This record gives sequence, structure tokens and C-alpha cells, in this order.
Amino acid sequence: MTRLITVSGGKGGVGKTTVTSNLGYALSEFGVDAVVVDANLTNPNLGFHLGIPLYPVTLHDVLRGDAHITEATYIHNSGLRVVPAGISVDDLKNTSPDGLKDVLMNTVGEPDIVLIDSAAGLGNEAINTLEASDELLLVTNPDLPSVTDALKTASLAEEAGTHILGTVLNRHSNKDHELTPDEVEQMVGHPVVSVLPEEDVMKESVTKKKTILDHDPDHHISHRFRGLAADLAGLEYDIPSRGLMHRLKEILGFR
Ligand SMILES: Nc1ncnc2c1ncn2[C@@H]1O[C@H](COP(=O)(O)OP(=O)(O)O)[C@@H](O)[C@H]1O
Ligand SMILES: [Mg+2]
Repeated sequence: MTRLITVSGGKGGVGKTTVTSNLGYALSEFGVDAVVVDANLTNPNLGFHLGIPLYPVTLHDVLRGDAHITEATYIHNSGLRVVPAGISVDDLKNTSPDGLKDVLMNTVGEPDIVLIDSAAGLGNEAINTLEASDELLLVTNPDLPSVTDALKTASLAEEAGTHILGTVLNRHSNKDHELTPDEVEQMVGHPVVSVLPEEDVMKESVTKKKTILDHDPDHHISHRFRGLAADLAGLEYDIPSRGLMHRLKEILGFR
């Protein structure tokens, strides 16, 4: 049975698209049949993260009934299948997110996992995405506004009967002013399943239009994405340890 998993968190810029593209890539590396869908209909950018921003047919065409989802599904060079959204202003004006669930149920074949990149906020578009999925992976940052938005997203998901897998705490830099993973866990009420540090190489990889796994496969964040992907798919993956110097810096807060 295909699992429909939304990656959401309420706030913009926390790393939802980054998590969707990298997790999708990591799942493909493991040989899991995965599809990533850009359900951010107003500000789509999943295609940019994967280096394929312009597509002739997109999710917008599918939602308008002008195309079947098979026509809007593209194969990334990693083997990951991608359903992008349209980036034109016309697409934005003429498309409603209603019907997303039906569209997703028609996904080509029976992939193991469909990862859905959600829009920011908690408007119609984001709620439709939550309702269309079986499971939710929250993404947040270690600050109060992001965590408050994640909490609201979790409440809406609970109302919609969507199972919450846990929270990815992204852009963590061990600073005193930041919320700790324990505090985030207590506030959101769901376990923190992965902590991803703030690293410039993440922005660099987007500039190169690549996932971090593609750009720097041995980077510790790449390993953490593989660890999370393995957990999601019920596989084994041991995240290599980062060495004494890194650990010391982390403990002393110099990271
Ligand atoms: N761990 C990280 N360290 C540094 N920059 C990050 C990290 N995660 C994401 N970013 C950057 O933050 C920006 C917003 O990320 P994005 O995934 O587009 O957020 P969202 O989809 O939630 O709006 C991007 O430029 C991305 O490269
Ligand atoms: Mg995004």
C-alpha cells in the first residue's frame, strides 16, 4: 500500500522543501519506490531544489483536469519520481487545491512512499494537503514562532485523522537562545525524530540545484537524511559518527 506522507510545519523557510527533496533522494538511494509531489501551489520550488525547474505539464494542469498525473510525473537522474507544480502566475490564478487526494490516489503504479511538499501557512492549500495524506512529518526550527506553527499544524492533522510521525528539528546550531530538542518535543507533543544542524552547505546545494546527498554525499547531514529515510521505510542505517573534534566543538557550542 502506498503511504502518502506530507512534510509540513506551518512556517515558511523552516526547511520543508529541503527535507522533502533530500528524503526523497535518500529513499531512492535505498531502492524505495518514492515520488515527491510539490503541493505548494502558490510558491512551488521543489523543482528548483532538484535542478529541474521548468516542466511542460505540472500538478496545476492535473488539478484543473487538463492532464493525467502520469503526464506530470518526471524521473530525476537519481531515479526519484517528481510531480512538480507550475510556476507561472496564470497557474496560480486558475487552480484550486480541491481534489488533491483523488489526484494523488492516481499516482503512477503503486509507489511505496509519496512525499508531499506542503505550502507554508495553514490556509486552504496546506489543509488540503494534510487531509490528502495518511501521515505527517513536521519540520520546525528551534525558535518559538516556528514551534508554535508546528503545534498548530499538528493540531489540524490530529483533527483530520492524519498520523503524526514526529518532528524534524532543522537549522539547529546549539546556541543558548535556541529551544533545545527536548523543549521542542514537549511543546509540539511529538518526538523529535531528527536534528539537522544549520550549515551553509545546505544553501550552497540549493544554489547548485542539487540535494545535499547529491552535492556532498559524505556530509554528516547527508547521513542524517539517510538515517531518517531508513527509519521512515523501516530499514537499517547506521549514521557514521562525526569524530572527536566535531563532537567537542558541538559540546562547547562552537559548531
Ligand atoms: N539546515 C540548514 N542549514 C542552512 N540552511 C538551510 C537548512 N535547511 C534549509 N536551509 C535553507 O533555508 C532556505 C529555506 O528552505 P526551504 O526548504 O525552501 O524551506 P520551506 O520549504 O520550509 O519554505 C533555503 O535557502 C535552504 O537552503
Ligand atoms: Mg517550500
